[in-house]
This record gives sequence, structure tokens and C-alpha cells, in this order.
Amino acid sequence: MQYQIPKGLFDILPYSKEEWTISSKWHYLEKIIKKLSIDYNYEEIRTPIFEKTELFTRGVGESSDIVHKELYTFLDKAKREMSLRPEGTASIMRAFIENSLLQERKTHKFFYIGPMFRYDRPQAGRYRQHHQFGVEVIGEKCVEIDFEIIDLLLNLFKRLELKNLKLLINSVGDLESRENYKNALLKYLKPYFNNLSEDSKMRFESNPLRILDSKDLNDIKIVENAPSILEFLSEGSKTHFDNLLALLKKAKIEFEVNPKLVRGLDYYDDVVFEVVSNDLGAQSSLGGGGRYGTLLKNLGGPNLSGVGFACGMERILQLMVKQNVFFPKKNYPFVYIIPMGEKAKEYSIFLTRELRNHFIPTEIDLHVSKLQKALAYASKIEAANVLIIGDEELEKQKFSFKNLETRNQEELSLENIKIEIQKKYLKYKERHA
Ligand code: HAM
Repeated sequence: MQYQIPKGLFDILPYSKEEWTISSKWHYLEKIIKKLSIDYNYEEIRTPIFEKTELFTRGVGESSDIVHKELYTFLDKAKREMSLRPEGTASIMRAFIENSLLQERKTHKFFYIGPMFRYDRPQAGRYRQHHQFGVEVIGEKCVEIDFEIIDLLLNLFKRLELKNLKLLINSVGDLESRENYKNALLKYLKPYFNNLSEDSKMRFESNPLRILDSKDLNDIKIVENAPSILEFLSEGSKTHFDNLLALLKKAKIEFEVNPKLVRGLDYYDDVVFEVVSNDLGAQSSLGGGGRYGTLLKNLGGPNLSGVGFACGMERILQLMVKQNVFFPKKNYPFVYIIPMGEKAKEYSIFLTRELRNHFIPTEIDLHVSKLQKALAYASKIEAANVLIIGDEELEKQKFSFKNLETRNQEELSLENIKIEIQKKYLKYKERHA
């Protein structure tokens, strides 16, 4: 019996035909993310991958798809209802409150990377386990922070050299704005009710704003002329939104105001945004987020506002591969040792050990049949250099060291072999930093 991975999951592998699943590419993305987070002074937070189900129903909202339809829920052995986290924000608010982090900073700036779980219909760009990079900022409501996280997200894509992206932005207003708008929207939609999709009919009562971003073609037609939420913003929400747009314009950040952008989670108010790419097919959203003014309080925390976003790492890597962006070369092994003969093999085992102890990434070929084959294999595994050690060379105390990229070859003597290789490695690291 051969086992197969459950539907909607994938493996991240050291080598794979599916380029976006190659682990070294994930490492590169994670490295860029971590440096970016340091540059903006965000500190890492790690929360467990499952929580009590109630946290998500209260935090993310029962009318959202990810809670209503897609939660991976199970009973633990004591029959407590638990769920794999579908997103990061609710858990981070829980951790913030539970660990009394409030006193530690004026503004709390967190970042996170990790797997999220949604029981979705599997398709390209939609997985049952996906990975997010996200940030959350907790503090006073502040338009400059909204600006900062949008800038951070766009800077990530810039550092990754991604092109043709679009920033969509909207305001869903505060509670008062939304109540007024809801009434106007329901009034507009009522005559079309029977023509709405089944999903939208359900949302008519529970969360009519979500009808605005329905993917159903008929729904799209119906909402085309719906009133715009932007005309229902309260004074405070309008000023906040206008100030943010003014900052973006000043920074020459291009954006498109899309009054139909409402996002699928219930906790948002005021600003919401998304970065989309036409190169991604149906699942075009690379990342999105917004402000949440009442989530912390609803979960029993202080009356502070939060703002954040999350982006899908699978979709980012898929787009990077599609747009053929730069990925650094894997820089190990630096030395691939090819021992020719039994005496050479024993010597090479100890040399390998010593180089590794000197922090030089080293591999040894333990099954050499022919030199040509060993050299071809070294190229295949992307070794930077090979060191050929034969019984004869051992006697002469001279070994050939070959750079597989430049094809340069030189002789290294036994007494200075470690020092020479270490010097070369340091130089190499400087160039490939
Ligand atoms: P979200 O829009 O649900 O937001 O997810 C963020 C991103 O995760 C999406 O834009 C998409 O790239 C990726 N994603 C979501 N579901 C899947 C899936 N099934 N397969 C692959 N990728 C997926 C949130 O989760 C919010 N917590 C973001 C946030 C943080 N808002 C405020 N703070």
C-alpha cells in the first residue's frame, strides 16, 4: 500500500520539478522577510497551531467563510473543541492579552511566519495547509501605522523583484458607518434577492457586505450599481481614510480605491487593502489586511486598535517562479571531496570532518566508481568546488582543487590545505552575502 498526501496539501522538498516547492527557495523568501521585519522593527511572535475553537468563532467571526465553512475542528481526548488555526490575528490577540504584553511597549509590532489551515476546495493557489507571513500592530489608532504596514508589504514585493502588482484599498468604516451602509445596501439588493446566488442569499441576513465581493458572475452584475460604502463613512472614518490616501500619494505609492473590497473576515473596520496580481489566475490575492478596532476588546483585552496584514507564501513563490525573478544559488556544499582509492577515502573522511568543524560546508563522495561520474554528480548537486584526493596525490602531498563554476583548477599542498580552503570560503561568502 502506497500512502498519498491528503488532498490540498503539498511537500516542501530539497529538490523537486515543481520549483516553488523547493526548500532553498522558501529559505530565501524567509530570509528576505526576516531582514525586512528587522528593518521596520517588527519582532517575531509564535503562537500554537491550534487553539480553542471559540477563539476563532469569536475573533474571526461566525459569518466568515473561514470559520463557518472551513475550520478544521476536532475534539481532544477530554472532549474539548479545538481548531487548527485558519489565520494568525486572533491567536496573536489572545497571546497579547494572556501574556500581559500591554505594559512592555508604547506600540506593539509583531511579525509571524507559519502554517494556517482551511478546509477549502483544493485548487491552484488554494491549499488546506498554506503558509502566511503577517504583521500585526497594536496601539493607538494611527494613520501613519496603516501607511507603514502597506509600505512594508509593498517593500517585500519590491525586494523580491516582483512586478505588475496592484494595491487595492477601501474603507469599511466604523460600526456606525457600516450600519447606515448596510441598510442602504439591503434596500438596493432586496428587489434582486431571488436572483442572488445561494451563498449571497445566506449572507443577505448575516453579512450583506460580503455580497459585494462575491465571485458569482450574476452577483457581480447585480452589485455593479450598488451604493458605495465610501458615501456612508462617518466623519472620523472619512478623515482617517483621506489622510491615508494623502500619505500614499505623497510617497508616490500607486493604489486603486475599490469600494467593493470588503475582505472575508469579520473583524475589520476602517481601512482594508489587498495586493493582487493578474499573473496568478483565479486566486489573485497575494496578501491583504486592514484595521480592526474592536477585536482586542471583544476578546477581553484593552480598548486598543490593531492593524495588520498577511500574505500567502505559496502564492508569492509561485509568482516569483512565474516572473523568473532572481533566486540566490544554493551555496553548499562548498567543497565536494572525491577520494580515489581506499587510503584516500580514510584520509578524506577525517579531512571532511575537520573542514566541517571549521564551518566549511563539505560533502564527501563515499561511493566513487569513476572520476568523471563523481564530477558530474558534484555539478548536479550544485557543489561550488571539488577536491580530488587520490592515493598518488596523498603520497605527493598535493591535491587538485577545482572551481566548478569557473573551471579553474589549482594544486593545494597537504600542509596548507585547510587554511587555503578556509580563505577561499571566506572570500566566497563575502561575494555571496
Ligand atoms: P486572508 O486574506 O484570509 O487574511 O489571508 C491572507 C493571505 O493568505 C491571502 O491573501 C492569500 O495570499 C493567502 N491564503 C489564504 N487562504 C489561502 C489558501 N487556502 N491557500 C493558499 N493561500 C491562502 C488573513 O488571514 C488575515 N488574518 C490577514 C490580517 C492580518 N488582517 C489583519 N491582520
